[in-house]
Amino acid sequence: MVSKFVVGVIGSGTMGSGIAQVAAMAGHPVVLLDANREALDTARSSIHASLQKFEQKGRLSEPAESVLARITATTEMGKMANAELVIEAIVERLDAKQSLFRELESVVSESCVLATNTSSIPIESIGAALQRPDRLLGLHFFNPAPLMRLVEVIVGLKTRSGQADEMRSLMTAWGKNPVVCASSPGFIVNRVARGFYTEGLAALVEIPLPPHELDGLFVHNGGFKMGPCALTDLIGQDVNAAVTRSLFEQFNYDPRYRPTMIQQRLIDAGLLGQKSAGGGVVENWSASSRKLPIELAAGDRTHNAESGVLTLVPHLRGACKQVDLPDNTIRLGEIKLVAVGQDSSDPSCVLVDWSRNPESRVVGLDFQRTSVDDRQQVVSWLSSCGYEVIDLNMRLGGVMAATLAMLVNEALEAWYQHVADEESIDSSMKLGLNHPIGPLEWSALPGVLDGCEALLNQLQNKAGGERYRPSAGFGRWRSHAGAFR
Ligand code: NAI
Repeated sequence: MVSKFVVGVIGSGTMGSGIAQVAAMAGHPVVLLDANREALDTARSSIHASLQKFEQKGRLSEPAESVLARITATTEMGKMANAELVIEAIVERLDAKQSLFRELESVVSESCVLATNTSSIPIESIGAALQRPDRLLGLHFFNPAPLMRLVEVIVGLKTRSGQADEMRSLMTAWGKNPVVCASSPGFIVNRVARGFYTEGLAALVEIPLPPHELDGLFVHNGGFKMGPCALTDLIGQDVNAAVTRSLFEQFNYDPRYRPTMIQQRLIDAGLLGQKSAGGGVVENWSASSRKLPIELAAGDRTHNAESGVLTLVPHLRGACKQVDLPDNTIRLGEIKLVAVGQDSSDPSCVLVDWSRNPESRVVGLDFQRTSVDDRQQVVSWLSSCGYEVIDLNMRLGGVMAATLAMLVNEALEAWYQHVADEESIDSSMKLGLNHPIGPLEWSALPGVLDGCEALLNQLQNKAGGERYRPSAGFGRWRSHAGAFR
């Protein structure tokens, strides 16, 4: 085997240990450094256990012990002298990262590439401490690094041109799917996904729904693997909130990225999610005792990639033959059902939340000012067709409609600002967060782009403020051939 260059990894916690494993599995000698000797011991055991699992699954071409033997653990910075690439994965604090890189710069060779795994700090801010900021870039791995294929390769304003391409090739050789993006708040995934968390948690308070019902809408009708309640509990409410706050600050307090108050309440109460003894939002938010009788089966998250269906309306129409079928509207006697975001100036019509899963049997409805009798009629009709109704309690924009439109809006904004190209944005959301379809590919399906823009305009007018401001990217995307491929 051709001998490979030495890779340094600094910080041997969750991310650093995973990154060291990835580099060693790709055949590199790795120097893994941590200020804390115990952390190094823990990292060694967890890397060993993970390598054994890879071996058992037949995914290693050599014994786990041989891979592990390539990793040298140390607390001494001088051991980084021979590294040609050093990836930093220490605590997420600018001062700590700056002083570490300053020290590192005095040890490594002139040709050594420096990378940071930061989730939120601008590359330029870290690079400001360096004599040679041109050799710094971001290599943002996802957790767990040995399993997650996505790596965001983040280019700072001073990063040497060509370095991103070299790192992209290296990451590909390591078996990853790299995407190149500009250093801007949240890079791709953490930025584009923000609305998923903030709209989801806001809906929990505004409707209010029990968390499993709210998550059910996301799983059944959005095609997501998890809803925002379970996912923020998994990430940790504190960790998720810190990223949201960081983006909000970096975007100069743009209301689009405004954190939710419920998340701060959970944090104050010590209900951080799975890592807390008392659990998080899923266990502790019981706005209602009503249970959704439909199991969230793992396979039940298909989306209709062909039709780009925005609402359940076409499916409801298909489900019940006796109703009159005007365009994208259902008429049930005198009652009209229309999709959220369509003209709803008539308060006696019922608004149907969006879904991109034609198989879903859950439907979110905003009854607006319909009478009690009319509501009952709609609910019993839908029940007879096999649908479980969730009352959205007149939440503006519904749940899935507002969330999906926010995802598309942010993806368009990032694309418009040249943070990354469309393929990179879409593949990041699919690989980094398991989204069933990229926001831009979805927006290019029939009716979706217009539907999102109309809804955002409506929300901006009705809700006031700038939270739902449509991106200037709508216009450019529409004229871009990709929007209609
Ligand atoms: P962690 O807390 O698990 O590990 C950090 C390690 O760095 C600890 O072992 C600590 O002893 C060591 N350390 C701290 N200061 C040091 C210094 N000055 N010199 C040497 N070692 C030092 O943290 P985690 O979760 O691995 O995060 C590391 C970085 O990766 C952060 O920048 C974080 O934002 C980023 N990140 C984290 C992800 C996650 O899911 N945990 C995902 C992607 C990025």
